[in-house]
Amino acid sequence: MEALEAILTRRSTRKYKDEAPDKEIIEKIIEAGRYAPSGSNSQSTHFFVITDKEVLNELSELVKTEFAKMEITEDTYISLKNSINAAKTGNYNFYYSAPVLIVTANRKGYGNAIADSACALENMMIAANALDLGSCWINQLHWLDENEAVRAFLQEKGIKEDETITGGLILGYPDTGMPNRIALERKGNPVTWI
Ligand SMILES: Cc1cc2nc3c(=O)[nH]c(=O)nc-3n(C[C@H](O)[C@H](O)[C@H](O)COP(=O)(O)O)c2cc1C
Repeated sequence: MEALEAILTRRSTRKYKDEAPDKEIIEKIIEAGRYAPSGSNSQSTHFFVITDKEVLNELSELVKTEFAKMEITEDTYISLKNSINAAKTGNYNFYYSAPVLIVTANRKGYGNAIADSACALENMMIAANALDLGSCWINQLHWLDENEAVRAFLQEKGIKEDETITGGLILGYPDTGMPNRIALERKGNPVTWI
């Protein structure tokens, strides 16, 4: 698929087949993330690739438990509010049972941490679309970056104490076979030419 077509037809997928893509395909997608630009060429985004179903389930239960403990205030961001409400009902799976979760982390205190990781995540989502895989940005672990239990879990798996969780994505074969590529209408993102 041509690059611009892969960008313009990328959509978020939230229902996946159980079967994981072959490791070589996942590696191609990670390579697209690693080739993203980074501030001052820092190349400090750290990619954690989780395909172990047991680890994914354990993490999902932990995320649910920790969200369920949170209180909603009038300042709570809408998506976070939805996650907390869903977790409190007990019917919540932040990674939609996708076969692959890639978590990004970067150096704490590094000013381009989120920007660099966002470039990497977008590269990976476009690459996934070009390879007929579905993907979706998953932000819950970023929101829980300072949560003691989630940090302890992820640090045990290799995230370092001086790293901040910047975001993540899920990947896999869409349940429908091919990704939905119907573009959403653009009502926002204004453009001003000067
Ligand atoms: C920074 C960011 C955070 C997001 N977090 C989540 C998330 O945690 N869970 C989720 O299902 N989708 C998440 N999304 C996906 C958006 O909901 C989605 O991109 C948007 O609704 C537009 O739909 P599209 O990706 O199909 O074009 C996130 C997207 C971005 C860019």
